Amino acid sequence: MARKISFINYKGGVGKTSLVVNTAAALAKQGKRVLLCDFDTQSNASIWLLKLDRWNKINTSDIGSVFSIFNKGAQLRELIHQDVVEGRAGEKLLPGLDLLPTTFNLVDLESDFEFDPAQPPYLTFYEQLATVEKNYDFILFDCPPNILRASQCGVFSSNEIYVPANPDALSLIGFTLLVEKLQKFHQLTASFRKGTMGPPAQIQGIIFNSIKTGVDIEVPKMRMQLRLNQFKTAKRAAPTAKIFDAQIRDAMVVRRAVALGLPVALVSSESADSAAAGENVINDYRKVAAELLQHVKS
Ligand SMILES: Nc1ncnc2c1ncn2[C@@H]1O[C@H](COP(=O)(O)OP(=O)(O)OP(=O)(O)O)[C@@H](O)[C@H]1O
Ligand SMILES: [Mg+2]
Repeated sequence: MARKISFINYKGGVGKTSLVVNTAAALAKQGKRVLLCDFDTQSNASIWLLKLDRWNKINTSDIGSVFSIFNKGAQLRELIHQDVVEGRAGEKLLPGLDLLPTTFNLVDLESDFEFDPAQPPYLTFYEQLATVEKNYDFILFDCPPNILRASQCGVFSSNEIYVPANPDALSLIGFTLLVEKLQKFHQLTASFRKGTMGPPAQIQGIIFNSIKTGVDIEVPKMRMQLRLNQFKTAKRAAPTAKIFDAQIRDAMVVRRAVALGLPVALVSSESADSAAAGENVINDYRKVAAELLQHVKS
């Protein structure tokens, strides 16, 4: 059974996409079979991993984006880009990392799109995902900072939720709002959960990102821990939920990796200094992946 995991926080820009892409890469490098599903209409993860030319072809065509499952009756398995990371000559650079891409048309799911209330998009997505699940160890969902229709597809299909956060008050507010909205979503969708689906996904962890060297994050971390404890007591987070020991440092190479269309682990360095800095942050992602592997399944 694949572990299906949403990365989400109601605060934008905390590093959800960077964390999903680089953790997915770290897992694939260890030989895990990983599918990354992009549910953010901004398409950041898709543009990052496909690079602009390949992504543009999908964006200008009628089909190929995850949205075509809903408006064109496309089959999810036909939309997957296997071993998505390619070099200039089309050579496969990271076997094991597959992508279900989105384009900007996913925004239409939020407003114009009409559906049978008995068959909401998240249920259609769940059913389609079931056809490929056996091919993967991990299915990761990059969600926008909300639980609207696109995001609901990832959340409904997940068995675990992790919350990327920065060490600041806004991330804490985003986390709090997420827990509230998550509970409402689970209540609203309870009648659609069949016995074989397992229980709705609970918050399993918080992962701090973009930690600057020399900045003490003990106070924001303590505040986050207190809030998490309150949610655990109220049974609004899993009893096993924790703040990850592993955290991602702030590093220029993360921003560079986006421009190069590569996960950080595949970016080659221009100097010994940048190689060392790159290795440090690659190691951070490896540690997150290792902690994820050890963390209890919900
Ligand atoms: N560890 C890091 N070090 C340096 N820059 C980072 C790091 N993590 C993320 N960034 C940068 O911060 C910005 C926001 O990151 P990212 O896009 O991953 O956040 P997000 O939470 O997915 O945003 P959104 O809510 O818009 O989807 C990007 O420019 C990214 O390159
Ligand atoms: Mg993002």
